[in-house]
Formats: sequence, C-alpha cells, structure tokens
Amino acid sequence: MDKPKVVLGVSGGIAAYKACELLRRLTESGHEVRVVPTASALHFVGAATWSALSGNPVSTEVWDDVHEVPHVRIGQHADLVVVAPATADTLARAAHGLADDLLTNTLLTARCPVVFAPAMHTEMWEHPATQENVATLRRRGALVIEPAVGRLTGVDTGKGRLPDPGEIFEVCRRVLARGVTEPDLVGRHVVVSAGGTREPLDPVRFLGNRSSGKQGYALARTAAARGARVTLIAANSTLPAPAGVDVVPVGTAVQLREAVLRAAPEADAVVMAAAVADFRPAAYAAGKIKKKDGQEPEPVTLVRNPDILAEISADRARPGQVVVGFAAETDDVLANGRAKLKRKGCDLLVVNEVGELKTFGSEENEAVVLGADGSETAVAHGPKEALAETVWDLVAERLN
Ligand code: CTP
Repeated sequence: MDKPKVVLGVSGGIAAYKACELLRRLTESGHEVRVVPTASALHFVGAATWSALSGNPVSTEVWDDVHEVPHVRIGQHADLVVVAPATADTLARAAHGLADDLLTNTLLTARCPVVFAPAMHTEMWEHPATQENVATLRRRGALVIEPAVGRLTGVDTGKGRLPDPGEIFEVCRRVLARGVTEPDLVGRHVVVSAGGTREPLDPVRFLGNRSSGKQGYALARTAAARGARVTLIAANSTLPAPAGVDVVPVGTAVQLREAVLRAAPEADAVVMAAAVADFRPAAYAAGKIKKKDGQEPEPVTLVRNPDILAEISADRARPGQVVVGFAAETDDVLANGRAKLKRKGCDLLVVNEVGELKTFGSEENEAVVLGADGSETAVAHGPKEALAETVWDLVAERLN
C-alpha cells in the first residue's frame, strides 16, 4: 500500500522549530511528507533541516522546479495538509484565497482534509480580523485547532501557543483515519469528563479508583479532531492535554459536579466517562490520621455523593442536549446496563465489562452502546479511539 501523503505547511513563527518534531512523528509512522515552508519560516528553521528530515526537496516559491508544476501537484496528490504553525498572516492569506507562494497555491489545489494549528501572540489571535479568518476557514471545512494557553515567545504567557507536536500528530492521525474531508462536529460544544475522582480522608489519603482517564481523553481528542469545541473535565489525570481541548482539572466528585454544571449550559453534548466515586468519607481529618498503640482503627463512615449523570439527564441544561453515560460492570453486563440506562435517564450508555486486567489503564476497550430509543451498537475490541468515534457518530446522529 502507498504511504499516506502529507503536506506539512510551515509558516514563519518561532514555533516552526516544533514542526520538526511533528515531521519526525509523521515520517516515523509511515507517512510520505512534503514540507512546504513559507519564505519567512526559513528565517526560523532552514530548508536543509526540512529536506533532511522529510527526505524530499523543499521549496517556498512556485518558480522552483517549474517543469514539475509543484504548485498544482503537491496539493492535488495530498491525503492531508497540515499547517503548523499557522501564523495570523498565513491564516489571512488562506482565508482570502491568495496564491502568492507555494503553500497558498497548495492550499487552493488540495481537495483533502486541511488542518491548521495556529500559533501567535494572544492579541493577534484574539483580533477580530484573525477570528473572522478562522471562522471563514472553518466554515469552508478546514479544521482549525484552538491554540494552547501557556508560555509564548518571550516571558509572556497567554492563549496562542502551538499545541504539543505529539498532540498535533494525534489530530492528523485521527483525521486521516476517518477519511472524510470535512469535520462533522464544527460549531458543536461538547463536555467530556474523564479520570477517576479521589475522595480525601485526610491530607495524605483518599478513596480512589483505577480509572486511567484514557477513554475520556480519547473521547476529547476525537471530538476535537472532528471540529468540536471541547471542555475536558479531568479528574486526577496526568495524561497530556489533547490539542485544542480546554482542560479543567478537578479532584473530588463534588468538584467534578460543579465543573460539569458550569460547562453544561453551553454544551450540545455531555459525556460522563469519569469514574465518579459513589461515596465519600463523611468526615475529613484536617491532620494525618495516626495509629494509636493498643487501639483499633476508627471505622470510616461514608456518605453518598451526588449522581451527576442522573442529575444532568433529568434536568437538561439545553433542549436537545445529548447526555451519554458509561457503565462499568463485572457481571450480567447487558442486563445491568439496560437497567442503569433507565435509572440514569441518559440518551446513550456505553456498557463495558471491567475486571482486574480489563479496561482500566489499558489502551483498548470493547463495549455495547445502548440507546434510550432501544438501539444497541456493539463495538468490537480495539483502540479506545475507535469506541470514541462510535460514541460521536451516535451523538452526531442525535444532534442532527
Ligand atoms: N456517575 C455520576 N455520578 C456518580 C456516579 C457515577 O455521574 N456519583 C456516572 C459515571 O460517570 C458513569 C455512570 O454514572 O457515566 C455510571 O457509573 P457506575 O459507577 O458504573 O454506575 P452506578 O450508578 O454507580 O451504579 P453501580 O454502583 O450500581 O454500578
């Protein structure tokens, strides 16, 4: 099979150096990459670097190798075009259909998915001119990843940072795997909870669970790669933030509930993938609980935590909002799942079997998605991303 052909457009920002890492990831995972830098990108990273890392010639202008018509061919033959970093100027030229260098020519001839990963100073990103250009590109079917918040070129921080190259690579991988030209969740806002809550007993101890957060992160990552605005409410997870996703860290079930209720009014869909503790210690000891010689330990009294999924299902923050729950079961998986779907009142329930070695912390999952409308969708054993894609397919069906 031919290697997937990726065009990596690089524009002139300091984050151009991070595109070298993205290029490496792409080539090492079996993609044929043609780098098309802008002339100003070469002020940051030279043509020799792009050429050596990609194994392909590099040019910025349409006048090089004219007999090969590269300004038409490169775009026509691409399976994916990713522009990282995309500066305010490159976004503006792309939005206006200019064709004054090889990259903009390539963008006009490409009929494959196009991903922009913008990076610039916060003021430039927030300027109405840039925002309108981004909206235009999105309306035309391009995937424009939200920049990350963090340290910018100098000592300043804010929104405008290029997401981690590994995470941009993940977006590219998802977009190529889906094989559709336009993202289908553009204009949608989704809220995903992930990880496992920790209910503190004292300053050093907590009641927790084995959830790794991987399924919730896979849901957030795939939704972002399909164009959704994503709020990821992450309970005690140390996984890297997916590109373009707004991560809200929380600790306990009560904090998770507050974060979900805050985000839900703007959400088209809420997916509760977090493992939420059903109980918490009734009392929190301000100092570490010490063992006392000759004394039995004090029993731990538990109280119920609020059931967030049941609450947001019963009291929808928006008409037509789709609510999805997860059920981790060890026995009678389907029967328990059906009963739970009724009890919780959500639209979809992803039922999976768990055990010591199953699901928790693993890269793979296998599940049945039950619908309140009686539907049943089996998802074969495979990567957590595949289950996530099925969940979004079912959510998208219900939103449309
Ligand atoms: N959930 C929640 N709030 C809780 C507990 C769970 O929102 N206090 C959500 C989880 O995020 C998940 C779903 O409910 O989407 C199912 O959680 P699970 O623990 O499997 O089900 P329970 O309702 O706790 O039922 P049981 O303990 O009987 O298995």
